[in-house]
Amino acid sequence: MSQTTLAIMVSGGGSNLQAVIDAIAAGELSWRIGLVLSDRPECGGVQRAIAHRIPVCAIPYPPRATAVQREAWEQRALGVVRAFAPDMVLLSGFMRILSAETLNSISIPIINQHPALLPADGGDTYELADGRVIPALRGAHVVADALRLRIPMTGCTIHYVVPEVDRGPVIATHEVPVLPDDTEESLHQRIRTAEQRLLVRTLAKTDF
Ligand code: GAR
Repeated sequence: MSQTTLAIMVSGGGSNLQAVIDAIAAGELSWRIGLVLSDRPECGGVQRAIAHRIPVCAIPYPPRATAVQREAWEQRALGVVRAFAPDMVLLSGFMRILSAETLNSISIPIINQHPALLPADGGDTYELADGRVIPALRGAHVVADALRLRIPMTGCTIHYVVPEVDRGPVIATHEVPVLPDDTEESLHQRIRTAEQRLLVRTLAKTDF
């Protein structure tokens, strides 16, 4: 198996990053993680990368960043990503929106994990396996939205990143039921577990 290099961008705890680390160690994936890049030096994802001796770069994102600061951050981040010459970038709980200019200047695939179900047609609804139709949840609060809207099922999606937020071509989805006594935390925890499996399966099987 030839090894292809992944750059993983994180802002949070990094449980999905850990799933990739573990799957590589178990011989389930032929990828190698060449770089972990973060906007939050103190986040769990950075700590996991350090613990596993993965090259890591944390560039703090200025609070209430202006457009100029945002562009400067993205340029620095792009420079670091390019230096590690990955074959693909994975946004794994990376909570910043990258500008169209930045996205258009990256010639390798960029994929994102989203903790809700997104439709293949880019529309505003998602048809569940049993035929029921739910709203497509986009943005940064989709787990809370699933509870607020009392939808019976939510899930996770892996998709290509395009400038239109959460509207890129869908690669894989997995449904997760919303339980009557779910809190945002309990639901997100079950979604994360599903995401970890879906991510490893997708990285193993998909020809990007
Ligand atoms: C995951 O649920 C991922 O889908 C979500 O952040 C979580 C990261 O968990 N991403 C987004 O919401 C992106 N908008 P982790 O840090 O434990 O892997």
